Amino acid sequence: MTDLKKYAYKVSAAGRVNIIGEHIDYCGGKVMPAALSLKNTVYVRPNGTDKINLSWTTLPGSVSFDIASLGSYRDMPYGKYQAGSAFLWQRAGHKIVGCDMLQDCTVPFGSGLSSSAAIEVSTIAALATVAGEPFDRAEVALTAQAAEREYAGVNCGIMDQYASACGKKGMAMLLDCKTLECEYIPFELGGWSLVITDCKKPHNLVESKYNERRAETEEAFAVLKEHVPSAACLADITPGQFARFSRLLPAVIKKRAAHVINECERVKLAEAALRAGNIEALGKLLNASHDSLRDLYETTGSEPDVLADAARSHPACAGSRLTGGGFGGCTISLVRSECEEQFKNYLLKAYREKVGYDAVCYSADISDGIIVEKIN
Ligand code: GLA
Repeated sequence: MTDLKKYAYKVSAAGRVNIIGEHIDYCGGKVMPAALSLKNTVYVRPNGTDKINLSWTTLPGSVSFDIASLGSYRDMPYGKYQAGSAFLWQRAGHKIVGCDMLQDCTVPFGSGLSSSAAIEVSTIAALATVAGEPFDRAEVALTAQAAEREYAGVNCGIMDQYASACGKKGMAMLLDCKTLECEYIPFELGGWSLVITDCKKPHNLVESKYNERRAETEEAFAVLKEHVPSAACLADITPGQFARFSRLLPAVIKKRAAHVINECERVKLAEAALRAGNIEALGKLLNASHDSLRDLYETTGSEPDVLADAARSHPACAGSRLTGGGFGGCTISLVRSECEEQFKNYLLKAYREKVGYDAVCYSADISDGIIVEKIN
């Protein structure tokens, strides 16, 4: 067992769920994520050398990066996200000092709960902290997003890294991805609970059609903006404008854009429902979001569909949807709290019967994003 007291700081960043607003961040609209108590924690101390030494609680061995050549670790099997995050933070003009880092990740990998964002954000925050630099959370998020694009090859939006850095305990975030303005809405569900369930079909956005979907939305916007010059991004197109001009789009592109336009409307309704404490209305919006991801955006897949359908067939469930990039990963379900255990048993049994292997429910609270604690 490693002696954690020998480290100077404990710096963590959160995984996230997205409550609603899926595949909207890179279209410039509003999304509603929340940071989770599942997180990546970095124990860090200065080591007086010109190297970053990295080890993990869950992996044997360690790796070292030269501070002078942080850009040269792209092909490492383990540690490239950390090296990439450090490199991009350095490239943005920040000081990097030699340090030892021990990383401990409780966000399940490949679950669609943004383990990579939690790793990138916490690594950057730890490097700034050990260098004695105050940091701006939004800048950390933007740098982490750049690392995800350059090092993981996912042309992602800003939602995951922003939630990981700037989330607040007990709060849903209403993040405008065009301006990065963020409102915090108390995530108060009354007698309802949020159940997170992993379909355990590995989700890998690099190998998936994530980048293709993004390109399809760009194609849609390139056509629509000719007719709506005031729009700066696809999310700016109103449902009325879309109804007028959508006939100009090829069939598949029209479906993708229809998802985006409708999902932006659902985010507005979800904000109102959450503020009003109307969880049944929020649940219906979750269902509509999943159906749109399944039928129009085509990012769900059979296992997440089985999970969402099984959840909805339970009488204590107000709604259920796949959260995150898709093609596997986790669903979120709104469930009457007094029936939570019974619901989970029902859901896991139904899934096993239909799919032939086990799904898993995770316990997590809505938590703070980056947390820095001094150890000694
Ligand atoms: C992934 C990406 C995010 C976002 C979601 C879909 O999680 O990293 O930027 O696009 O998919 O909403």
